[in-house]
Amino acid sequence: MDVDLAHWLVSADAAPALAAAQAEPDPGSLAAATRLRRDFAPEQAAAALTQAGLRRRAVTKFGAAAERLFFTPDGLEQATRGEVAAWRAARYVAAGATAVVDLGCGLGADALAFAAAGLTVTAVEADPATAVLAAANLGQEVICADATDVAESLLASGAAVFADPARRTGAGRTWRVADFSPPFDFATGLLAGRFGCIKAAPGLPSALIPEGVGATWVSHHGDLVETSLWSTDERAAVLLPAGDRIEVSGRRAPVGSVAQYLYEPDPAVIRSQAIGELAHRLQAHRPADGIGYLFSDEVRPTVFAHTFEVIEVLPFDERRLRAWVRDQGVGTLEIKVRGIDVDPAALRRRLRPSGAGVATVVLTPTPEGARALVVRRLN
Ligand SMILES: C[S@@+](CC[C@H](N)C(=O)[O-])C[C@H]1O[C@@H](n2cnc3c(N)ncnc32)[C@H](O)[C@@H]1O
Repeated sequence: MDVDLAHWLVSADAAPALAAAQAEPDPGSLAAATRLRRDFAPEQAAAALTQAGLRRRAVTKFGAAAERLFFTPDGLEQATRGEVAAWRAARYVAAGATAVVDLGCGLGADALAFAAAGLTVTAVEADPATAVLAAANLGQEVICADATDVAESLLASGAAVFADPARRTGAGRTWRVADFSPPFDFATGLLAGRFGCIKAAPGLPSALIPEGVGATWVSHHGDLVETSLWSTDERAAVLLPAGDRIEVSGRRAPVGSVAQYLYEPDPAVIRSQAIGELAHRLQAHRPADGIGYLFSDEVRPTVFAHTFEVIEVLPFDERRLRAWVRDQGVGTLEIKVRGIDVDPAALRRRLRPSGAGVATVVLTPTPEGARALVVRRLN
């Protein structure tokens, strides 16, 4: 976004255009654009309508506060979910921090949570237009600068540090430290000698976690959302919003055959490799090395996994499965798969589900070969 447009957007001058855009039932429509252009310059009409659309989308991350915040498409995409930012901020408070420097604050989702938790926030943002919007969101000055130039002096007072580096290449590419801005080594280096957190994407390869840096793999409502690197010495999975936490203990899950109960651990448990610790707690085993399912003949309650009862064990054979689906009259078929090279959506089509029955089938390697398990969800 152009910086002049950002200044206009957050000014009182833009309020009528924003109000008109927000009153539009479909701010993305041609009709809305036509109506707003009667009263506002085309560029301003477009900016107000974009803002109205982004505010609607932002409700899932920001709740009712989205109504008064300013967004860009990228900034909203990159913004930390509110409950995740609040969890992080609470950890700073628990660690005794009273001030934090946010190096690359984006639109300010984390900075807002820090402020709400009572911390004094110094926010830095390199992109001028984003800095203008963030200042409006935070209701305070945002320093428009390159974090690498100002970090040292801003942190000299003993404040805690936070950075959420942007990845310049899109998701899904090979991880390269050089893709981060501010640079990954610079950001993680700031964790030495002070309390802080560097947010990274959930797929961050463990090999990139520097020696002596802690890590939490965080899920929110079952979505794996981030790997947070900490100045502490810890390895754990954290499940939000409840805040349940399981440490990575170094235990390995034993391998064994299919048993009566199947656990499907939360993705944070799998990604963090806390599955060995969970297996120990549940007295459960894996069906094969590297497979993120656990089995046990005795069911134990856990918040770290979905629990299923295994009703039937079939060989993984498409013809047998199709016959089973037909015989049981299964029309709604959920297929879960780990460790077998099959596209569940394509397989479901080929199995031609039809009828009133509902079933969940889990495909997994086992010591006895690949199996299709018919399961019933317990929690
Ligand atoms: C992933 S976003 C931060 C999102 C923020 N944590 C939130 O939840 O809203 C990263 C931000 O860092 C900014 N940035 C990138 N390199 C920077 C640098 N060298 N100095 C300061 N900011 C930088 C980008 O412009 C971007 O807005």
